[in-house]
Amino acid sequence: MRVGILTSGGDAPGMNACIRAFVRIGLGHGLRIVGIYGGFQGILDENLGDLDSRSVAHIIHRGGTILTTGRSEEFKTEEGLKKAARVLQEHDIQALVAIGGDGTMRGLTALEKYWPGQTIGIPGSIDNDIWGTDYSIGFDTAVNNALDAIDKIRDTAEAFSRVFLVEVMGRKCGAIGAHVGIASGASAVAIPETKTDLKVIADKIAEGRLRGKSSAIVIVAEGDDEGNAAAIGEKLNGLLPGEKTRISVLGYIQRGGNPTRQDRILATRLGVYAVDCILEGVRGVMLGEVRGNLVKTPYEDTWKKKKSLDKWMLDLIGDLAT
Ligand code: F6P
Repeated sequence: MRVGILTSGGDAPGMNACIRAFVRIGLGHGLRIVGIYGGFQGILDENLGDLDSRSVAHIIHRGGTILTTGRSEEFKTEEGLKKAARVLQEHDIQALVAIGGDGTMRGLTALEKYWPGQTIGIPGSIDNDIWGTDYSIGFDTAVNNALDAIDKIRDTAEAFSRVFLVEVMGRKCGAIGAHVGIASGASAVAIPETKTDLKVIADKIAEGRLRGKSSAIVIVAEGDDEGNAAAIGEKLNGLLPGEKTRISVLGYIQRGGNPTRQDRILATRLGVYAVDCILEGVRGVMLGEVRGNLVKTPYEDTWKKKKSLDKWMLDLIGDLAT
């Protein structure tokens, strides 16, 4: 059986570990594995080739994706989907595994309408916004990357007694922001899941100053309703006479670098599980890990059901920053 594997959407550290596990275990079970390069666009461009055990050597520790990735507009069209089905058939590919976020699960759903092959999704996204898994591949590394940067920012914030606004990624999801907020000891967190009240944040910073706090760090998730870190910084300056907030947008460094132990193990576990599922004839589901158990979730649920942040987490952020 020939099985294609691709990565799509934003790259996430750990994708390589997942590809490696899928290829090595799959080959051991007699699967022939075809790497598709550049995401779904790679199918349309016939940018693909066989992978063997050596193709995935020395990649478990590398961020990015050896298969490269993309966000294809052409693939979303009816013509694109029909062409993709034709190409997969011509290359005798009977199953397809795609690692990515909710856009990837939507892509697989659309493809299933035109292609009779078996499809399996694996959650890979730093945003951790996909229903059906406690964590998506890459999230843990992104949080740790952000923490590493924020610990450094704290040094300079302390040295100058400054207020810093640090912007983290996550699209419309505040998971990175909330985790980073607690783990960095931030004074406040602005995330899309909760209404951000800048007066409350400003009062907190001002009270902290009165109690002898020398610096403050506010984490801003990029999707926050009050705007990005620069916009929030401006507004806070207006509410805090004498303060001139500093802004640090962490950006793409969050998405790169060596995956953490957690991401390598999650990725490996899901890659191996994908082989089992392919061999069992499972189709049309995203694989995930929920409370330590491997689970399957129909694609539609992965984006229709909204993943919420734990309430204890949101409460803690406010309580600890005194
Ligand atoms: O989905 C992952 C992510 O890094 C988001 O956090 C961010 O909003 C987006 O991708 C950035 O997209 P692009 O790589 O297209 O700039």
